[in-house]
Amino acid sequence: MLEIPAPKLMHSPAPTFWRRLAPLAALLLSLVGAAGAANTMDRIDLPQARFSTGDNMAWREPDFDDSGWKLLNTTQAYEGQGYEGYDGYSWYRIHVVIPSALKLSTDWPERLRVYLSAIDDADETYLNGVRIGATGRMPSDPLGYETRWDSPRDYAVDLRSGLVRWDRDNVIAVRVYDGGGGGGFYKDMPYLAMPHRVDGLQLDAGQARYHFLADGRVQARLDLRNNYPVLQRGVLQTEVFDLVSGRVLESGKRSITIAAEKSLDLQWIWPARPGIQVRYRFVDARSGRIATATHDLPYRLTPPDAPTPALHGAQLLGMRPGTPLHYRIAATGRLPLHFSAQGLPEGLKLNPLSGVISGTTPAAGSYKVQLQVRNALGSTKRVWTLVAGEQLALTPPMGWNSWNAYGLNVTDELVRKAAQFLIDKGLAAKGWNSVNIDDGWEAPERRADGEMMGNARFPDMKALGDFLHERGLHFGIYSSPGATTCGGYLGSLGHEFQDAASYARWGVDYLKYDLCSYAANMSKTPTLDEHRKPYQLMGEAISRQPRSMVYSLCQYGEQQVWTWGASVGGVAWRMTGDIADNWNSVLETGFSQAPHTRFVAPGRWNDPDMLVVGQLGWGDKLRPSRLTPDEQYSHISLWSLLAAPLLLGNDLPNLDEFTLSLLTNHEVIAINQDALGKAAQRVLNQDDWQVWVKELEGGAKAVGIFNMGSSFRSTRIESNRMGLENRFQLRDAWRQKDLGLQSKHISVNLPAHGVMLFVVK
Ligand code: GLA
Repeated sequence: MLEIPAPKLMHSPAPTFWRRLAPLAALLLSLVGAAGAANTMDRIDLPQARFSTGDNMAWREPDFDDSGWKLLNTTQAYEGQGYEGYDGYSWYRIHVVIPSALKLSTDWPERLRVYLSAIDDADETYLNGVRIGATGRMPSDPLGYETRWDSPRDYAVDLRSGLVRWDRDNVIAVRVYDGGGGGGFYKDMPYLAMPHRVDGLQLDAGQARYHFLADGRVQARLDLRNNYPVLQRGVLQTEVFDLVSGRVLESGKRSITIAAEKSLDLQWIWPARPGIQVRYRFVDARSGRIATATHDLPYRLTPPDAPTPALHGAQLLGMRPGTPLHYRIAATGRLPLHFSAQGLPEGLKLNPLSGVISGTTPAAGSYKVQLQVRNALGSTKRVWTLVAGEQLALTPPMGWNSWNAYGLNVTDELVRKAAQFLIDKGLAAKGWNSVNIDDGWEAPERRADGEMMGNARFPDMKALGDFLHERGLHFGIYSSPGATTCGGYLGSLGHEFQDAASYARWGVDYLKYDLCSYAANMSKTPTLDEHRKPYQLMGEAISRQPRSMVYSLCQYGEQQVWTWGASVGGVAWRMTGDIADNWNSVLETGFSQAPHTRFVAPGRWNDPDMLVVGQLGWGDKLRPSRLTPDEQYSHISLWSLLAAPLLLGNDLPNLDEFTLSLLTNHEVIAINQDALGKAAQRVLNQDDWQVWVKELEGGAKAVGIFNMGSSFRSTRIESNRMGLENRFQLRDAWRQKDLGLQSKHISVNLPAHGVMLFVVK
């Protein structure tokens, strides 16, 4: 499967950000030769390969005659190079002369690195007939097929094996299985290289763990791993740099030794405030080679919750009359909390201890309910309006989705854990109340009567729905209008009404419907009608169910879906291809939304895709988001200003303190959930500054000022450029702090890709 629609849908605008991404290795570790040497002898690119569909183990042999095979590029899927729509087995054969001079480029000539970028979906790789690596699993595997479409294939050959034929032709034969969507090599340039000893040191500052101390500093722990079977010895220097003042605050140096394939646990205590950067530099004692890494330190802005009771979350809930309702009141305060409600319509009851409202939605109408929460320290009240009618999602959907963490390896257990963590970590108390299973839950085949079921990892969908509802959480699911989903699982084609009925029986509250393989059912340049048709059909199918099911369209913004999504019953629609955790992707999915924000209204949400903060992995090894802390503040601020659906995609059991603080700021969330339901307009985009202004209910405005540049800078924005009065009250939403009466302008001093988010009255 693929993470962007382009290769699946040949007609869609081709997002190119993947091609701009540096290989993973370059992100983790930047190496500088002792003499600054970098020449072509360091690396041999593998831009082309011979290709054939089918499967034959004889094709791994170096002497097999592949001269009749077609020559393909290795940075583009084979779909798109003449093999449209082909799924199944295929082979690539790369011929390469490996010069013995390559050995001179390293201080440790014991390994040949075979970097094959990523392969859609699974591969087995052979060098001169001998297997050197495999990623994912073929369907014939006893454990069953497993896609690892986005994993880097970074294989190593031990040179003592004698496998490499120096200065002669070598054949790298790659057996591929594609389970659906695009296929084969598709990402960065594959290459051969000889690593240096120091390459074995995983100086990956992004993997550090942080614990915030009461004195405003942060404790950093870094597990420095040596991946090679040789001793690493050298000096590690750290320099703490303040980007605001341009000064080095402290520097340290220590000699380190790490045994073969072992790690060293390093700890420091550093300042935690905007603009603090740590620069690491390791000098190998024997070769003098240097490894460096730079990391922006996280800092928390969200103040801790008060111990007195407080009510949070959306002030409106839209439900269809007569349908089942489960709703968890979002509230904080020292436990135990006690809930009560005045004016709750008949048919609904409130559990005073959990704050879960459940029952049946009353007849059409608007019901104002006075919610109250109290604890030993006091009590507070707020009006919450239940709007019984046909319009759902009166405020942007909020919750968690399995995709960005678990990809196609999601399980019932992981989903339940995520739900429990939403509650236990205090996220549900701020309004994060949906739990959505993305792709990967579907059985490999329908029952004889055509019924869809969960696969072995989802033994009982109804029980899972009940588990979520008991906790007042909403249950979301995923399908595709095509024969298969993006991940190659079964789609709903021809079974739309049957599937909608199953979802209703299981208690589903939310459906994400993902175009993917339906492209095969449309013409090459599909018309608007062709795009609407499958969405209209499923929209009708779910509207006939006795439930309130939120319908989220995922067709990557084709045919200006924001202009017609609501007419097929949709309440949210993806605007672009898939998000990734890098700044370019945030630019392409989020900041690109400026022309379309005027289409946003209650129940009509433009969806720039799910959040990429916290531990992510898309089904691969989990690792922290690659956005810097400032980029993460900007990401959450922008999504709040855009009134975008807020769907977490991270591994919740591994929630770190920084991410938790990022996601529990109720003043920032309130901007997103504001009842007026407007999205911000971009009012300024100049000199690498952007200003976005969102109208809020009651006349206030939310203003986001973003530093799009790559250095710490300051600016002053005149109030008339933001549509503000000459004099205004300013509040810093992240710090939850009044800044008092201002006149004529707002001044900011911001890190690269950083933000200030204000509420202006
Ligand atoms: C597409 C969607 C993603 C995710 C995957 C599942 O790529 O855009 O959000 O749902 O499919 O396969």
